[in-house]
Amino acid sequence: MNRRDALRVAGLAAVTVAVGAQAKIPEEYMNRIEMKPVNPAKLDAGELKHSPLVTLEKKDSAGYTMVHISVGQGGIIHPSTQDHWIDFIELYADNKLVGKNILEPEISRGATSFAVKLEGIKILTAKAGCNLHGIWATTVTL
Ligand SMILES: [Fe+2]
Repeated sequence: MNRRDALRVAGLAAVTVAVGAQAKIPEEYMNRIEMKPVNPAKLDAGELKHSPLVTLEKKDSAGYTMVHISVGQGGIIHPSTQDHWIDFIELYADNKLVGKNILEPEISRGATSFAVKLEGIKILTAKAGCNLHGIWATTVTL
């Protein structure tokens, strides 16, 4: 994150406080910066909190595999409050969009599932958007 991005996030935090606990945060103040862990082999607590955890079930009789995505790893679950939540989760199969779920604060948290035909697919990428801390991705090689 460069200085300009840091200032943008700081401004976002100020707006979040000003907006208050019950008001919806305007779309233009959502943090949409694509974030990357400093060291992907050793995530820190903030990175663990935002990184999607991708788990797969066995393929069903129709050929679909349930792909579960939950935001937070290592026992850390991302919070879901009116001013800080995971507002969307997307899944890509070989860089092609499988689906996108929009999530509301408080009543849901950063988790969703997709039933996917994985025949011939080599890479799954889950992306999760935190309104304050940007967009985080996890890639799984099949
Ligand atoms: Fe966050």
